[in-house]
Amino acid sequence: MTALAASVVLCGRLSVRACLPYYCAVELFRVTGGTRLVGEVTVGGAKNSVLKLMAAALLAEGRTVLTNAPRILDVTIMSEVLRRLGCTVTIEGDAITIDTPAEPGTEADYDLVRRMRASINVLGPLLARRGEVRVAHPGGDAIGSRGLDYHIAGLKRMGADITSEHGFVIARAERLHGATIWLDFPSVGATENLLMAAVLAKGTTVIDNAAREPEIVDICAMLTEMGARIYGAGTSTLEIEGVDALSPVTHRTVPDRIVTGTWAFAAAITRGDVTVRNSEPSHLEIALDELTTAGADVELFGPCEGFRVRMDDRPRAVDVVTLPYPGYATDLLPMAIALAAVADGPSMITENVFDARFMFTNEMVRLGADVRTDGHHAVVRGKEWLSGAPVRATDIRAGVGLVMAGLRAEGVTEVADVFHIDRGYPGFIEQMRSLGAEIERVTVPDDTMALDF
Ligand code: EPZ
Repeated sequence: MTALAASVVLCGRLSVRACLPYYCAVELFRVTGGTRLVGEVTVGGAKNSVLKLMAAALLAEGRTVLTNAPRILDVTIMSEVLRRLGCTVTIEGDAITIDTPAEPGTEADYDLVRRMRASINVLGPLLARRGEVRVAHPGGDAIGSRGLDYHIAGLKRMGADITSEHGFVIARAERLHGATIWLDFPSVGATENLLMAAVLAKGTTVIDNAAREPEIVDICAMLTEMGARIYGAGTSTLEIEGVDALSPVTHRTVPDRIVTGTWAFAAAITRGDVTVRNSEPSHLEIALDELTTAGADVELFGPCEGFRVRMDDRPRAVDVVTLPYPGYATDLLPMAIALAAVADGPSMITENVFDARFMFTNEMVRLGADVRTDGHHAVVRGKEWLSGAPVRATDIRAGVGLVMAGLRAEGVTEVADVFHIDRGYPGFIEQMRSLGAEIERVTVPDDTMALDF
């Protein structure tokens, strides 16, 4: 009989909660509302770039070093993906060192892929290097259905034989060849996987309607340093002339524009004054423009030096429409909702990238926000103050959006499942505190498990 069963028998009519401290705990952020955020933060490298740069290390035998890498949970998971493929991975400070063997493994298992969708980005490099690969299908998550059809269709055009069996995508190709590929939507992940397959293919590949995000430009820069021939990085047409081999390099990761944008919105939501260092404001033009329209004073410093956002009065309502880059980033949608929830007037927020990104607004409503959604539109009527409540993070960005809303709520907000936030925000609590936020990380029994007899 397990210890839990024994304790239940012992507890009899007592709620199981009494036994929970030993078995089920949840980490949450406890936020006390009402503080203006004031001060300076420094941003690290981009999660959505470094994970793909780590996958790109598989393309060349030897030592790859990635600097300005964020210390986040997703990097730990990707390191484990690479280790299980036979690489040695060490992390010191903001540098990741990857030693890739002559013949890396060919399988990325479900246990890791289900925890982090970006593991799928080993598909292109391993198919190009090893001619075969088995990757567990990542499935969808809280922000919507996350297909792989563009990845698969593009690789098939390059000559790959691809099947789906028992939850795995299995791809084989003696040597991929160049092809012209049109993407129905400028998918970031598909552009990256096809790019990493095409650099070692025989002949020239053209990816049309490719993604243009700064993270795409970053991986193109690294691949070019490795010896690849890529033209059109940052435009919607990428042309790649395949080469026979690549060499490992040392590469600096681009700053994280989503973390950067998060701090900018935090300043506006709390009517604060925040300087964001080591960030590239030009990667956030539309978002900073929206903040200016909302009444913030945005002062830009030089390239990669950062900027300052100051909001003296109540933000004005602004309408936001998410789009692929250079449009307003979908990953900053929860910050736009949090701003709209405390702004003066009604805002219309439109999501064009994911089909379930508004899921978290139910939690915003628990905080007293007036949010109504209909398909990919949300109408938000702002309030002077929200009211603190227990809520649950459903994904990385939603979690941070709820913390931001909690800063402008009366009383205490408890955001559960903060492992989501740890996946993408290095030193989040420390940085928040350095700006004056009243926030703490606490571990409590997970009462969603409570069963009363
Ligand atoms: C990347 O996801 C980011 N993740 C996401 O950030 C980001 O929201 C997204 O790009 C858009 O900017 C990483 O880089 C790890 P997509 P990705 O392929 O590559 C559909 C965060 O919080 N689609 O551009 O998965 C798809 O369903 C995360 O950091 C297909 O239908 O995004 C979605 O609706 C969340 N078939 C749309 O395209 C495909 O084969 C955009 O997806 C591929 C995509």
